[in-house]
Amino acid sequence: MNFELTEEQILIRETAKEFTNNHLLPGVIERDENQQFPKDQIKKLGELGFMGMMVDPKYGGGGMDTVSYVLAMEEFSKVDASTSVIVSVNNSLVCWGIETYGNDFQKEKYLSLLATGEKIGAFCLSEPEAGSDATSQRTTAIEKENHYLLNGTKNWITNGNSASIYLVIAQTHPEKGHKGINVFIVEKDFEGFVVGPKENKLGIRGSDTHSIMFTDVKVPKENRIGEDGFGFKFAMKTLSGGRIGIAAQALGIASGSLEFSLKYSKERKAFGKEINKHQAIAFKLAEMATEVEAARLLCIKAAWLKDNGMNYDEASAVAKLYSSDLAMKASVEAVQIHGGYGFVKEYHVERLMRDAKITQIYEGTSEIQKIVISRSILS
Ligand code: CAA
Repeated sequence: MNFELTEEQILIRETAKEFTNNHLLPGVIERDENQQFPKDQIKKLGELGFMGMMVDPKYGGGGMDTVSYVLAMEEFSKVDASTSVIVSVNNSLVCWGIETYGNDFQKEKYLSLLATGEKIGAFCLSEPEAGSDATSQRTTAIEKENHYLLNGTKNWITNGNSASIYLVIAQTHPEKGHKGINVFIVEKDFEGFVVGPKENKLGIRGSDTHSIMFTDVKVPKENRIGEDGFGFKFAMKTLSGGRIGIAAQALGIASGSLEFSLKYSKERKAFGKEINKHQAIAFKLAEMATEVEAARLLCIKAAWLKDNGMNYDEASAVAKLYSSDLAMKASVEAVQIHGGYGFVKEYHVERLMRDAKITQIYEGTSEIQKIVISRSILS
């Protein structure tokens, strides 16, 4: 077993770290406060190849592996989980879904735009009454002569307004249950496509989350991905990889919490010495470091399984469950270590604490991860 990263992986991690320090850290507090989408940062990330990291270079992607994706996601998320969720949805849900299951026409038309960051993608599965219970799709896509007629509402859509290309999961044959579900590539300017108001969120406030309404939207037949009825499997497969991205985001929030705490503990003095010379603080830091390392190994293992063509459904759920719980725990500890300073915005850790919560909710709640894991170990 080899734990060493390749030169390329190290370079990608260094590039992501530099980008984070030079382009994400400046202004991150204001973007969070003002719920401001990181437009310039996403443009630059596209130019550097981070918006389509794993996409084949022939479609404008970076041709990198999933391990590199985890490394980059960790770096971005140490400081700016709003930007990293935009990166994650575009990479592992939208680009991966189209590249893996789309046909040549769909890849030619949409993938290059998404992989270069010229356009941003969104993944529309959740509905007002279909969150965890994803088979209960109410949005319908009824087959007509040369198109499908799309009607319904999607909720909590990351990149809801900033995206231009949406993967929409909808029910075509209700009598067939989940086997009647399809997935479509839908463009924002199709007639009848309406973006709802922006959600005012606890965390990841720089990313834009909206509901989306479809009223008699005509989707050309050639925009359906895969065979008739493939939509639910598509969603499950795509989310399995997406969960690696969110696990890495959670890992980054935890390791960012540790890094900010290490720094502060060397600067802050109490009772005549640096606070890290007090065992109460030193042990907190030791526990955080141990758990961050465990989360990192789980994320990298899930990514490695994916890169090596093995099944990663259970591993990605394990990585997400563990890392997202750790993101909460480590960020709360970071605020505690910072004391009163942790409770104000300038020291960054209160933002990490607010951002951490969503990692236990989106792309499958912690409870859903436990369903996936328990079914896998019991099968
Ligand atoms: N790969 C392939 N097929 C899979 C699969 C997988 N990983 N998981 C399930 N399936 C298949 C099953 O085999 C089954 O097909 P068959 O009947 O042909 O065998 C079908 O899907 C239905 O599966 P289940 O019977 O297991 O369905 P279920 O209703 O019991 O539950 C679930 C499945 C795992 C709970 C699923 O509903 C789920 O993952 N829910 C969570 C949804 C979710 O993660 N939403 C995230 C929204 S996107 C988002 O958050 C993005 C963002 O903005 C950041």
